Amino acid sequence: MKTILVPVVLLFLAITHYGNSAKILGLFTAPARSHYILGSALMKGLAEKGHDVTVISAYGEKQPPKGKGTYRDIVVTEIQNSIQEMLKNEKMSMVDRENLNPFFAALFVGHVVPKLMEPVLSNEGVQQLIHSKEKFDVVIIEQFLNDAQKALATHFGAPLVLLSTVGANFWINSLVGNPGPTSYIPALSLGYTVPMTFRQRLSNTLLTLLNEVYYPLYVHPNENAKIKKYIPNGPDISDVLYNVSLVLMNSHPSTNQPVPYVPNMIDIAGFHIKPPKKLPQDLQEFLDSAKDGVIYFSMGSNLKSADFLPEKRDAVLKTFSTLKEKILWKWEDDVLPGQPKNVKLSKWLPQQDILAHPNVKLFITHGGFLSTAETIYHGVPVLAIPIFGDQKLNAKSAVRNGFGIALPYSDLTEDTFAKSVHEILTNPKYKTNAKKRSELFHDRLVGPMETAIYWIEYVIRHKGAPHLRVAAVDLPWYKYHLLDVIGFLVLVSLGLVLVSYYVVKIACRKLCSKQKSKKVKKH
Ligand SMILES: *[C@@H]1O[C@H](CO)[C@@H](O)[C@H](O)[C@H]1NC(C)=O
Repeated sequence: MKTILVPVVLLFLAITHYGNSAKILGLFTAPARSHYILGSALMKGLAEKGHDVTVISAYGEKQPPKGKGTYRDIVVTEIQNSIQEMLKNEKMSMVDRENLNPFFAALFVGHVVPKLMEPVLSNEGVQQLIHSKEKFDVVIIEQFLNDAQKALATHFGAPLVLLSTVGANFWINSLVGNPGPTSYIPALSLGYTVPMTFRQRLSNTLLTLLNEVYYPLYVHPNENAKIKKYIPNGPDISDVLYNVSLVLMNSHPSTNQPVPYVPNMIDIAGFHIKPPKKLPQDLQEFLDSAKDGVIYFSMGSNLKSADFLPEKRDAVLKTFSTLKEKILWKWEDDVLPGQPKNVKLSKWLPQQDILAHPNVKLFITHGGFLSTAETIYHGVPVLAIPIFGDQKLNAKSAVRNGFGIALPYSDLTEDTFAKSVHEILTNPKYKTNAKKRSELFHDRLVGPMETAIYWIEYVIRHKGAPHLRVAAVDLPWYKYHLLDVIGFLVLVSLGLVLVSYYVVKIACRKLCSKQKSKKVKKH
């Protein structure tokens, strides 16, 4: 009996485990909650599908999901401490951040953020994992100035998957050999829209060139030093950077400018959005009873409403007090001086469920990537007040697609704010276009979370799926840009011009001397 049982049990284990459950490590260590929300949503989706996931982040889940697979958190609290340190030293107002020079910002970010990430690899829990004998089937890392972490994929013998919270950009493109022509694809931080003017194309190209030099010469060597310091027998950074199996992108042609993708770049925008849940009682009543509609106002998780300058806040309040609509405002303080009767405050609001309510007519937002995707999902028009990062770009694309107005924080006055709010509330085109965008967003073969899970499992099944890599990643930059070919053609052309010049010159001299001799004969 026993002898039969053993193979049966082994067979059973093999069937239930093989192809069903993978061991997945995720690192989402960006010092911003909005980034973490996306990473943890993906890992929860994988755990619900039955995979065993381990998540390294600055936050961690208060209530880890109880799905088929296991969910393990390794929280690096040091990241939050180092941000607090930095914020203490940095007294930057919202306007300062809004007007940061993009060239300076590019250098600043590449210098500061990797430093903030250093505690990840030195963290005790992470070090224990590194020195354990554990293996993973795939390692998923958010692409965000944390290149040293990518060596963990090599260390754990797993394919590397990247998650981009903002879609295609310089960082992603350079790693997977994706074309990103600066003639028509503006860099995220510049906030340009197409078509770009000559000056914009010039800035766009110069910023890309700056990055192309800055990263290999400054950022990557620093990251390489971290690998050698924290990972035993760590690989060289040049061997891990360009060995990406898959890039999952929080973008979609309905929300982002359409751009070319190499085969291992996959759009999954909206994967973090859940079908609407029941609202808390008080909110449900507030929204249901708003016969004239509701304006929902939130500046996201990073920007506190309390950071608003008093004159800007008063401009907003004066406009609100004249409206018949109700306003639901995410406000982090207990009091709001001069709070009108139609305004309800709350420190935390279930944003997705609020946007799903049919009485919500307008979303006043900073235009972050989560808010943008959620508002498009539910077809709600926006008044975007962008501050930094990709927010300006998101705001402008809301304008281009006709479902929103962008009002930069520095331009916000009582006059501009009131006009923008009235325009969106009274002109039906914003709602119509928002609905149209929403239809485009939903019209897909399969949902974005299923897409993400399918591709992650695909990469596991096909051992990193190296057949998806384009050959561009193996070319040195001068070959990729055809500088050798262009140089050769220029030399040949120069040669031809020179040869022609001398041929003509010699021919001329011969002809002229004949004519001269003719002239001499005539006389
Ligand atoms: C590159 O990726 C492939 C496929 O995932 C893997 O087999 C190989 O070990 C990786 N190389 C390094 C240096 O990580």
